[in-house]
Amino acid sequence: MINIENLLRENIKNLMPYSSARDEYNGDIGIFLDANENSFGSIPEGNLNRYPDPHQSRVKEKLAKIKNTNSKNIFIGNGSDEAIDLLFRAFCEPGKDSCLIMPPTYGMYKVAADINNIEVIEVPLTTQFEIDIDEVIENISTNTKLLFICSPNNPSGNLLDRDLIRKILKGFNGIVIIDEAYIDFALKESWIGELTNFKNLVVLQTFSKAWGLANIRVGMAFGDEEIISVFNKIKYPYNVNGVSQKKVLDALNNEVKKEQVVEAIISERNKLAKILLTKKIVDDVYPSDSNFILAKIKSADKVYNYLLDNKIIVRNRSNMINCNECLRFTVGAEEENIKLLNILSKYGE
Ligand SMILES: Cc1ncc(COP(=O)(O)O)c(C=O)c1O
Repeated sequence: MINIENLLRENIKNLMPYSSARDEYNGDIGIFLDANENSFGSIPEGNLNRYPDPHQSRVKEKLAKIKNTNSKNIFIGNGSDEAIDLLFRAFCEPGKDSCLIMPPTYGMYKVAADINNIEVIEVPLTTQFEIDIDEVIENISTNTKLLFICSPNNPSGNLLDRDLIRKILKGFNGIVIIDEAYIDFALKESWIGELTNFKNLVVLQTFSKAWGLANIRVGMAFGDEEIISVFNKIKYPYNVNGVSQKKVLDALNNEVKKEQVVEAIISERNKLAKILLTKKIVDDVYPSDSNFILAKIKSADKVYNYLLDNKIIVRNRSNMINCNECLRFTVGAEEENIKLLNILSKYGE
């Protein structure tokens, strides 16, 4: 049985967290003279002079209902990138501990590890972008505290095998992070439903993709109450601003629209994948459970620059492992995809 307390850094175990004015009194009504705010109001319109709810209680309450979990199992952060950083700060002793990642994958795991001076063990996904389970098991050491699984994976786009993930969850004695930034486009169950079975599981999701709120920087982490309470202890006191909290609540109250948008993106993705495959310059299109498509292109660098010249910006992933000659296309709106395909048809003319 995993003991979270034992996995924590010594200084975090003993940390006395900051207590904000809103921690000490959290009622709504009264004359607030406790937080050195500007009692005359805010300079621009919008009543922005008061500090926001440090615990994002209303967002969590609504989210808990939608995700079928409990507020105590939810952390809300300044993008899911904040949760990635907090994982390192909570569990990894700089200069001593390690994390395991499976490239090609999302770049922030390694950057956050490097910032925190944590060794990164890289076990590449197979050429078909699946978990290489034997190599993963082989490379875990006693100091490996975090293991990142990105599913659907960025940049390959595919969901990773559930049975292999389950094997890791059962066998690994550290924290397993499943990054589900793109799960809404996958039409498969989230791992949130398995939180009660695995104390060492943390699921990351974000408002930046399906909910269309990348600009306001709000991410989510779901996990055991003990892990979430550590995140809340070490985060900045007012880590999610009030404007963002309000916009997220508005979004959560309009789940139907989100479902419609996701459906439209999936339909565009499937159309785009099919047509890309018919292009002479496209060697392969990888199956996608995301809102983007990875494709193997003849002379990817040249095509990338050709698209740039035509003011179409895609991501060149050719220098990532197993992504030779690969470009990553975010699924655009219908007219954007038509334009992309038209321009691609004219390549080499
Ligand atoms: C796999 C993955 N996780 C997390 C993020 C970042 O999410 P956020 O905007 O919530 O920081 C991204 C962004 O592209 C991503 O691809």
